[in-house]
Amino acid sequence: MASLYQGHKKIERNVTLLGVLALVTVAIGGIVEIAPLFWIQSTVEKVEGVRPYTPLELAGRNIYIREGCYSCHSQMIRPFRDETERYGHYSLAAESMFDHPFQWGSERTGPDLARVGGRYSDEWHAQHLKDPRSVVPESIMPPYAFLAQRDLDPTGIGDHLKTLRHEGVPYSDAEIAKAEADMVAQGTPDGDAADLQKRYPKAQARDFDGNPGRLTEMDALIAYLQGLGTQVDFKAAAAREQAQ
Ligand code: HEC
Repeated sequence: MASLYQGHKKIERNVTLLGVLALVTVAIGGIVEIAPLFWIQSTVEKVEGVRPYTPLELAGRNIYIREGCYSCHSQMIRPFRDETERYGHYSLAAESMFDHPFQWGSERTGPDLARVGGRYSDEWHAQHLKDPRSVVPESIMPPYAFLAQRDLDPTGIGDHLKTLRHEGVPYSDAEIAKAEADMVAQGTPDGDAADLQKRYPKAQARDFDGNPGRLTEMDALIAYLQGLGTQVDFKAAAAREQAQ
């Protein structure tokens, strides 16, 4: 005990030694935090079904971010029983691997939206976004009726795909070239859905906002919401596991 005290005394009295040892200690902490990021590519397991967003979903996602929906809604189901019973299978890292920026969030004034896709009809979403209290009387969510009045502007969406490719999202040249056309096709009732699904498997194409004559920001936002959490087929994965 006495020798430990003597040793410490030495460090305290020697500014250089104290500085060097403090640096070493801080460096260890830094390495522990930073090193795992070097292997992030192999940490995030690829999962079947996860694909980049379609241009229309991406436009909807941009509106989601622009309107600050994340300030009340998270998009990450934690692996706890109360969460998985309410929202479904816990979120996998791969499910947000193409999200720049991710929308995990830490604030839940409203429910988590990671698996809201397919839970309600398009009509429900359109009505809820226009006037939340008309479907959920106690809701404190603000109304977003104006989204149904704003035309969706497809210009620039190809550039957005290109930018995301720099971030590592594997959009092909064809997808970038067809981005504007794909965006319109997905939100129009008579668009070429089969052609779109060749590039984006399971992409849902239809009129989303109940106004088939017009492609609006509401179409894009509902297309995004209806796709959330639907890419991975957990039922098929569970069946495969049982069969093994
Ligand atoms: C001030 C906080 C707040 C903001 C901002 C907000 N919401 Fe909500 N949201 C809520 C609350 C509270 C609920 C639960 C009551 C309800 O269903 O309206 C909710 C419910 C929802 C639901 C239904 C979820 C479910 O599982 O029942 C969806 C979908 C939704 N919000 C989407 C959005 C979108 C999209 C935006 C941005 C355009 C947004 N919200 C902005 C508070 C908010």
